[in-house]
Amino acid sequence: MEETKQQPVNLGTLIPVLGLALLAVLYQRYGNGDFEGFIHKVYWAVGIAVALLVASLGLKFWFKNRGQNDPSGLEIGRNIPETSWLPRTRFFLPVHKLRHILVTGLTGSGKSTFIRRFVEQILAKDLRFMYFDFKGEQSDYEDLIEICRRAGIEHEIQSFDLSDPAKCFTCNPLMILQDRLETVGFVKSIFFEKDANPYYVNQAEQFLHACLHLLDDSEVPRTFKRIEEIYYNDRTRLTLIARAKAKMRHGNAAEPFYINYFNEVFKQLTSKQRSERFSGFLSILTLFNTEPVSRIFNTEDESQLKLSSVFDENRPVIIRVPGEVYGDFSRKVVEAFVKVMPVLIARRRKMKNRKDYWLLLDEGCSYVGQTMVDLAKKAGSAGVKLLVTRMCDSDFESVEPGFLGKMLSAFDTFVCFQTNEPQTRETMAKLAMTYETQKRTFRLQRGEETGDGSIRLVREFRVHPTEFGQLQPGQAYFIAPRIQLFQKVQISQPNMLKEAA
Ligand SMILES: Nc1ncnc2c1ncn2[C@@H]1O[C@H](COP(=O)(O)OP(=O)(O)O)[C@@H](O)[C@H]1O
Ligand SMILES: [Mg+2]
Repeated sequence: MEETKQQPVNLGTLIPVLGLALLAVLYQRYGNGDFEGFIHKVYWAVGIAVALLVASLGLKFWFKNRGQNDPSGLEIGRNIPETSWLPRTRFFLPVHKLRHILVTGLTGSGKSTFIRRFVEQILAKDLRFMYFDFKGEQSDYEDLIEICRRAGIEHEIQSFDLSDPAKCFTCNPLMILQDRLETVGFVKSIFFEKDANPYYVNQAEQFLHACLHLLDDSEVPRTFKRIEEIYYNDRTRLTLIARAKAKMRHGNAAEPFYINYFNEVFKQLTSKQRSERFSGFLSILTLFNTEPVSRIFNTEDESQLKLSSVFDENRPVIIRVPGEVYGDFSRKVVEAFVKVMPVLIARRRKMKNRKDYWLLLDEGCSYVGQTMVDLAKKAGSAGVKLLVTRMCDSDFESVEPGFLGKMLSAFDTFVCFQTNEPQTRETMAKLAMTYETQKRTFRLQRGEETGDGSIRLVREFRVHPTEFGQLQPGQAYFIAPRIQLFQKVQISQPNMLKEAA
């Protein structure tokens, strides 16, 4: 019979036998026939050895934990050691060494609570954040405001809360970016579906560009309402053109293209041709010009939500657009805000001595797909960092093929709460990486060693996939392979909640 098994290490019998032999030799040499006195000395020697051993183990443990717990990081919770009798020391997340964080976990596993703890801790380091809330639970929002109040920055917050349009900050999408072509591209990227007919998209772009140019030249603020007027009202159009010409008279610039566009191209279309050609664009205008959101998006002053400068000025922003409130419109608004980020971030890159700024997106990945990958790539070099939460792998796989892989490679830190989906667990276990152990195997024949054998390297999970299913709410694995961080953590509630409890 042949079998393969791991090499047995029979220390259990070896140590007592060697120990007794050593004692006998020592007694022979130094005992001088006084057995009791000799035993007494042995007791002392063993006692001192044990004390030294305990002290050195203690020091080793202390140093190990001190090394991991770099207090310049964020105090997120407590380490859960592998052995239960070891103390739970404080866990600090070294965010200054990390780029983007991807948080995974099923509903109720503790993701949003973690975000609030995270916000509390970055505020304590005088860093700022923009929080996107797609679900819009009122109590979560109020907790976040309370955290900001306690940090003394309540007055700095810009809260764009579409769940309460009457109180919501205003924000004019046509004013976020000053550059006209950027604005046209921005409106196009959000409001035209990917499969829209390129001819009609092109027509709308041309019209929008002409409108913006005309408004800028006549020094009238850009709004969707005004564009609607330019479309429907010949008199408005002519008045604006006259005004623009008057303003330009002093300069000797060539005649802008919109004069020809409105007087020739646009004017010659019959109203039927127009409504056919611009139907997609007109539905956008209608969306923005209908109450109750019309007030918010048609502001004529510099809009209250100063998105264009949030990164430069490190402003704390909360964007709350509950998906269910306006259906598809909510989605478009969220897309608009997220899609404008890469453009704004690109400008921040040039700034010197800027502080890290955190973009926190709670369960919003599927809305914005590829933009998220672009953001992750561009943000790092501009000192903007992302924290994105999701439930499981299929959230990403449903976006487009290959999206999961792109996201996983764009992030360097993974926080995994309880997850029950087998594929997601596997992905997380792989990210935690495997480590190689030597396994010596050798052949046995009827219980006797044959001398044959092999040493092979086997890969073992550091965290086994099933362990991700056994986490309690508020417990997570922190995995950052680049800085060798693998830690199971009990996340603390934000301090304000602890006080309230
Ligand atoms: N760190 C924690 N400590 C104690 N309880 C927690 C913790 N995190 C979450 N919980 C409990 O789990 C519930 C759901 O947490 P939440 O953060 O809303 O989960 P998710 O955002 O993943 O759906 C909380 O209301 C709270 O009761
Ligand atoms: Mg949540």
